[in-house]
Amino acid sequence: MRGRHIETADNLDTLAQRAARRFYETAERAIADPERGRFLVALSGGSTPRALHQALVAHYRDLIPWDAVQVFWSDERCVPPDHPDSNYRMARETLLEHVPLPAANIHRMPGERTDYDAAAADYEAEVRAVFGTPAGTTPRFDLVLLGIGPDGHTASLFPGTAALHEASKLIAANWVPKVSMERLTFTYALINNARQVMFLAAGEEKAEALRDILSGQTSVDERPAVGVRPVAGEVIWMVDRAAMRLAEQDAGAP
Ligand code: 6PG
Repeated sequence: MRGRHIETADNLDTLAQRAARRFYETAERAIADPERGRFLVALSGGSTPRALHQALVAHYRDLIPWDAVQVFWSDERCVPPDHPDSNYRMARETLLEHVPLPAANIHRMPGERTDYDAAAADYEAEVRAVFGTPAGTTPRFDLVLLGIGPDGHTASLFPGTAALHEASKLIAANWVPKVSMERLTFTYALINNARQVMFLAAGEEKAEALRDILSGQTSVDERPAVGVRPVAGEVIWMVDRAAMRLAEQDAGAP
């Protein structure tokens, strides 16, 4: 891992503003790089990213060259795209409908499909096609956005689930007993080849998991987010004080 940076904001709104600026700066660097010329990003699901999306629309809508941005998702619930639980629907409502991103640049995970393994394989093929990376090599995202649950899950890599130990696929279908739902998710192989991973974590309910993950004193089966260690990339933790309370307590412990 090229390094870990933790930025603590007073609250979710400030966290989102700062995360939006980092998103913009990362996009600008990728697009300005003559060897890249575009920004390859995976959005996160859940509710925390809503604030990030709103900050991007408010402050960076006219600054980011959206035609050079390719948008993917790091996970999806296996539901139709208009379902209230759909990560795509949340992003469509809070971001995609408000920025001039070409439809061809939106790479939605096919959550509506019931042939889950085939859906995962087809999405992996779509990622490879857009990145231009043949089988045997791993696409390298410029930015993968992630969150963590109170149990330390990230993307749809939940404690005790099969996808935690997926060794070859980049995208996996994963049955999650905790939510009685099939999910599609990035695996560690894809996440850990990213140039940058940015976690967004806010709220007291994330404090225990965040303390364990940042300490490293845990396992992927207990706190899956601890398995996010980009081999040649950096991890940015955008957190608020409530989520950092226990980790800061430990750090301050004699
Ligand atoms: C999902 C997410 C998941 C999410 C965490 C945090 O599909 O649910 O990808 O990993 O990031 O559960 O969710 P909140 O932001 O809602 O706390």
